[in-house]
Amino acid sequence: MEKYIIMGRNPLSGSVRISGSKNAVLPILAASILAQDGQTIIKDVPRLKDVQVMKEVLEFLGCEIEWSGTTMKVDASKVQSIEVSDFLMRKMRASNLVMGPLLARFGWAKLSYPGGCAIGSRPMDLHLKGLKAMGAKVEEKFGFIEAVAENGSLKGAEICLDFPSVGATENLMMAACLAQGETIISNAAKEPEIADLETFLNKMGAQISGAGTDLIRIKGVEKLIAVEHSIIPDRIEAGTFMVAGAITKGNIKLENIQVSHLEAVIAKLKEMDVKIIKEGKSLRVIGPETLRAVDIKTMPFPGFPTDMQPQMMALLSTAKGTSIISENIFENRFKHVDELRRMGANIKVEGRIAIIKGKDSGGLSGTFVNASDLRAGAALVLAGLAAQDATIVDSIYHIDRGYENFEQKLRVLGAKIIRVRETYKEWEK
Ligand code: EPZ
Repeated sequence: MEKYIIMGRNPLSGSVRISGSKNAVLPILAASILAQDGQTIIKDVPRLKDVQVMKEVLEFLGCEIEWSGTTMKVDASKVQSIEVSDFLMRKMRASNLVMGPLLARFGWAKLSYPGGCAIGSRPMDLHLKGLKAMGAKVEEKFGFIEAVAENGSLKGAEICLDFPSVGATENLMMAACLAQGETIISNAAKEPEIADLETFLNKMGAQISGAGTDLIRIKGVEKLIAVEHSIIPDRIEAGTFMVAGAITKGNIKLENIQVSHLEAVIAKLKEMDVKIIKEGKSLRVIGPETLRAVDIKTMPFPGFPTDMQPQMMALLSTAKGTSIISENIFENRFKHVDELRRMGANIKVEGRIAIIKGKDSGGLSGTFVNASDLRAGAALVLAGLAAQDATIVDSIYHIDRGYENFEQKLRVLGAKIIRVRETYKEWEK
């Protein structure tokens, strides 16, 4: 498996351009199924493994797709399947986002249970409860979920989500676009990626309002058309690079970001004495000599994002003082703790609480570590940037799922990081 080798203690400097958002492009690609003819053109698409998987899912359903550079063109006029294979579903949980669009357009959808992953069981009960409220008959057996809309089309409904689930909000918004009547989703997730989905769907002719608040209204329409859309920047990639600047006592500039998507992360980093300066549309991040320990509670947007929790744990491991992180979104998102401990971090976990006794950055030392999931992998790279000597991060395919040209961007900022492609043929000689 491919690995990163990182030599730590290099203060980063220079500029980095943030790519389009993985968590915005995935639901928008799924929503392109709703265009019954024409070609949807999506710009600022990041070249990620997860986007490749979504492309395979759409092609499996019958879409014709061209992907060159950061532009993807999707023609969904020939979609004839309503079933996603188990093999594809297991590759990426977000494949479940095609359920709403398939039900809306064809009145039928069948997919296997998306696999759980390293951070939790990740059920779909909230998605299915909402679809049932809209008149879908849902059967779950033999590891498959099959949903059929009575008389071929869904009906508007009032849905209150038990938890502001991002995926459930997105699936239900897409399902409601072609339903008969109005759907109201309360306790909806407010993430910026949901507002981007609303913008895209309304361009297609949908009638949605309220995305970004906890009450979203969707008036069903007859037809949606193919349109052009540019993806918002990736706020989690931006946060990850902000931590890279802070953990290396560096001075870096981030371009192509939306500051309003990063308020909670910026506030926490400032509490840690990281200097963050707006320069036009860009943001400059300057890491201090000594970082201050802080407490973090992950919450739904606009609270502190769970997708930045592992990266912040790496940073807090090098701060002065004791920090407490409570992970309130996923039940099992501390897989990176053991690996950070191998690098000398002093972290104790009690259920969903992690207590980090920070050492100054001298406290971390390089060793072999293993990425368990996307953001845990990013956290280990960040720790490697601050650690003494070399850190080898294995299973970096996890990182390729969500970070475009990660090592190239870090190298431009002065990081000493290389990707090692281990070809077993060399072992056979
Ligand atoms: C989205 O996942 C993101 N993925 C995740 O980012 C992110 O961590 C998560 O939202 C929370 O912000 C994409 O957008 C592709 P949820 P999603 O439904 O939609 C529980 C990354 O690193 N839940 O908001 O799957 C669930 O188990 C990824 O980029 C139910 O119980 O997240 C979890 O504990 C990781 N029943 C919590 O809600 C349901 O039906 C939040 O899940 C749905 C969710």
